[in-house]
Amino acid sequence: MDTLNDGILLDCLNRRYATKQFDPQRKIDPEDWATLEEALLLTPSSFGLQPWKFVVVTDAVIKKYLVAASSGQRQVADCSHLVVFTRKNLTERDVDVYLDRIAVVRGVSLVSLANLRSTIIAKLFNQFSAKHRNDWAAHQVYIALGNFLTSAALLEIDTCPLGGIDPDQYDRILGLRSQGLSTVVACAAGHGAATDAYASLRKVRFPKDKVFMEVSTHFPSPSENWRTDAMGQPRSAELRKVRT
Ligand SMILES: Cc1cc2nc3c(=O)[nH]c(=O)nc-3n(C[C@H](O)[C@H](O)[C@H](O)COP(=O)(O)O)c2cc1C
Repeated sequence: MDTLNDGILLDCLNRRYATKQFDPQRKIDPEDWATLEEALLLTPSSFGLQPWKFVVVTDAVIKKYLVAASSGQRQVADCSHLVVFTRKNLTERDVDVYLDRIAVVRGVSLVSLANLRSTIIAKLFNQFSAKHRNDWAAHQVYIALGNFLTSAALLEIDTCPLGGIDPDQYDRILGLRSQGLSTVVACAAGHGAATDAYASLRKVRFPKDKVFMEVSTHFPSPSENWRTDAMGQPRSAELRKVRT
């Protein structure tokens, strides 16, 4: 496997920016698109449940309707591919479909997956309310969005994540509700127009020391060393920030 070096990774991540103007004439190469779909398929999720469907829109008429449901954002119309990231309105049936898939792919019996089934059902359907379950599924969907943004950047494909959309209107235009799906977020992908001034704006990020914190059991003075309480648990007050 070819390895990606640190410099190339950071170059790609620095080059990635939320594209405001796409070149409507430039479409994503079909081979690259196929790779991006594979990358999306490989997105990890809690329990491996994949509570999502990615709706790919290239049709100009549908995109036009979606612009109106996206506060008029032109990226929706001008991009090559618009991906609507939807979450499943999960039912126990979705869990069983997933377990069937594990059984087929890994050649194991459903009986051997009974404990996994109980764990998933207990958490998602006994412990969680419907709202909690929907939020949980939406969180998984955002992992897919992040994966998509980075994968596209590595292929030098421009993207714009789109949270400024009306999910209900998206659901209606795309006929999603009847399929047990709800829009979470969208992402336009394609090639930025040469006139997009955002491409050359400096990245605004907080300095590293405001974003990272490290904790340690090693203190400057040995007399202050790491202590535990009577139960052998670390006293949280003993944890020291060593990097900020
Ligand atoms: C979840 C999410 C939703 C976003 N929604 C929009 C959007 O609706 N329209 C837009 O132009 N940019 C949107 N952005 C882009 C952000 O404004 C942008 O990523 C941020 O300002 C950092 O800039 P950069 O991505 O160019 O580094 C969104 C970004 C994320 C991660």
